[in-house]
Order: sequence, then structure tokens, then C-alpha cells
Amino acid sequence: MTGSRKDDHVRLAVAQHGADGTPAHGTPSDDDHPTYPPSQFDEVHLTHHALAGTDRERVSLRTRCDVFDWRAPLYINAMTGGSTMTGDINRDLGIVARETGLPIATGSMSPYLKDPSTAGTFRGVREHNRDGFVMANVNAHATAEQARRAVGLLEADALQIHLNAVQETVMPEGDRSFGSWPAGIGRIVAGVDVPVIVKEVGFGLSGRTVSTLAGLGVRVADVAGRGGTDFARIENGRRPHADFAYLDGWGLSTPAALLDARGRGLPLLASGGVRHPLDVIRALALGAHAVGVSGGFLATLLHGGVDALVRQITRWLDHLTGLMTLLGATRPGELSECDVLVTGSLREFCTARGIDIPGTQGASR
Ligand SMILES: Cc1cc2nc3c(=O)[nH]c(=O)nc-3n(C[C@H](O)[C@H](O)[C@H](O)COP(=O)(O)O)c2cc1C
Repeated sequence: MTGSRKDDHVRLAVAQHGADGTPAHGTPSDDDHPTYPPSQFDEVHLTHHALAGTDRERVSLRTRCDVFDWRAPLYINAMTGGSTMTGDINRDLGIVARETGLPIATGSMSPYLKDPSTAGTFRGVREHNRDGFVMANVNAHATAEQARRAVGLLEADALQIHLNAVQETVMPEGDRSFGSWPAGIGRIVAGVDVPVIVKEVGFGLSGRTVSTLAGLGVRVADVAGRGGTDFARIENGRRPHADFAYLDGWGLSTPAALLDARGRGLPLLASGGVRHPLDVIRALALGAHAVGVSGGFLATLLHGGVDALVRQITRWLDHLTGLMTLLGATRPGELSECDVLVTGSLREFCTARGIDIPGTQGASR
């Protein structure tokens, strides 16, 4: 990963999102009422029960599993580092993480592993956020020694390993060998002293993949599904003839991946195409412990600066508390007991995959 390629990714990814962080075709309309692009999240319905609500002061956003204890079920997911511009972004995101208390991941640290002079473009996330939960990020080809260096640079609390075979396939200069990834992940898990989280980059982790990861000693899986930043489209745009256009729509959407991957032995994180606080609630109701946002938050930061992103996240946290109050969930884990209905193509997906469809087993809340 070179610095200029990362700068391209930032530019092209932000072009997929609106100024307020919504995906591009979801920018505010004339009457300033934002509209959102369709998403499989829209096929996850939380049945309204008018007497289900609780008292706002009883609601806590805190979310925990054996790997983390976060004040809210929201995090800033992996994006940048390696170039001057993305170093500035990491510094700003570190400040946002400090101001909002959200966990944060840097982008892939391959540039640092190849060229230690880029260390400062990643360190900002920790230097401006001394007490926050920080995740380092490497690819599955990293050696255990490289993974330790990445963790050490950030004094990281956890290590993300990203799986991006689709992106590499479409990327003109991409990697073409993925066969060693499972063994490589196992070596990294054995060689670092922080928990390892494995994530996709927008094409989703299936249940089968999550089972394999559990067997490799990975502690958490971030399904990072389709529906938001689209790296097949970004890389295809960098090809002379954009000849991979037919891959549009490849992968599992975030709600589909959650439904496929739950019950496979790992705590799940959800990211990819999360448009607003209701999508966060939907992902939590489908079993995620916390929900990550990348491109949308980056667009807000680049259009409005640190203050705008702090305001957006503060508003999201306020809305999450409000929605949980409405739904009668006093903590995020209780949302999985909500009366969820799955319809449309997501329901068809569940049927075809033999997945129990939420809402058909007589949920009670
Ligand atoms: C500009 C940009 C750069 C990214 N770089 C990385 C990366 O280096 N490592 C990684 O694991 N994911 C990376 N991602 C993927 C995100 O972490 C996330 O999985 C994906 O964008 C889907 O989330 P979103 O729809 O909220 O953007 C990047 C995303 C963006 C927008």
C-alpha cells in the first residue's frame, strides 16, 4: 500500500458519501430532510410495541464481551495512514475518538511495516487519544513479528487483520495469492499478546468464515459487509477499462452477514453501510456487540472538520439512547430480544441459506 494509493482511496471513498456522511445519493434534499439510499438494513424491521418503552435514565450504551468493555456500541473503523494527508486524518480521528470516547482503528499499517519513516502518520491516533481503545490493522500476509511492531507502535489494545480478497482481485497492482491466509492468521494470533479481530473491508464475513476464524484462535469477527464504501467499485475505477463492473453487488450485505455468522462461536462486530442510528440498532438487534463506521465518518470529517464529526457522533449516541428507550432495551445486548421481522430479499437469503428467520419464532419484547 503506497501513500498515493491511500490518498486515491480516500478521495474515491469520500465521493461515495455525502457531506453529512450519508452515502452519496443520500445527501440532504431541498427541504433539508435527508433521504437515504436503499439498503438491506431496510428489510430488518423492529416491530413497534407502544407499551414496550423504558425510562431513558435506565438506558446504558455500554457494551462488553471478553475482549472489550466500551462505553458505547459504536467505533471508528479502519481507514488511513501512510501519507501526509492520511496522517492528518488519523490525527483528527484520534482527537474525535478522544472527545467522544469511541474506540478507533487505523488503516492498514503495511506502509509503516515497509517504511518506518511513516510511523508518525499512524501514531497520531494514539498520541491524541492516550486512554482510548485503539486497534492496529495489518493484512493476513503480515508476519507475527510485523504484527507485534504494528501493535507496539500504537500501544494498541487489539489487532485487526483485514481480509480483502475482492479488493486485491480488482486492484490493478493487487495481490493474487490468498491460500496462505488461514495459516498466517493462526501465526499472528499465536505471536501477539493482544486479542485479534478479523474483519472484511465491505464484502462480508460468512458463517463458514467465522467458524474457521474461531478455530484459528481469533477472538472477534467484524463482518464488514456490503452496502457502504465499495472497494470493488473504487479499484475498478482505477483500471484502464473498468472491466470488473459486473462485480457490482458482490458479497454479503452487513445484515445478511450478521444473520449468516451469528452463533458461529465468536462475538460479532458489524460494519459496512451503516447509514444512521437506526441501522446501528438493527445491527445490534441482529446480534452485533458494536457497530463500526468508516466512509461516512470520513466524509463528515473532510467536509466539516473535527467539530462536525464530534457533533455527528454525539447526536448518534443521543439517538441510540432514545431508540433503546423506545424499544425497552436498557443495554445494547437486550436489543437482540427485540421483536425483529426480516422481509424481502434478506428473508429469501435466510431461507436459501437455511437460517432461522428472526420473527418466526415468537419473539416477545
Ligand atoms: C478510505 C478508506 C480506507 C480504508 N482502508 C482500510 C484499511 O486500510 N484496512 C481495513 O481493514 N479496512 C479499510 N477500509 C474499510 C473499512 O474499514 C470498512 O470495512 C468499509 O469501508 C465498510 O465500512 P463503511 O461502509 O462504513 O465505509 C477503508 C475504508 C475507507 C473508506
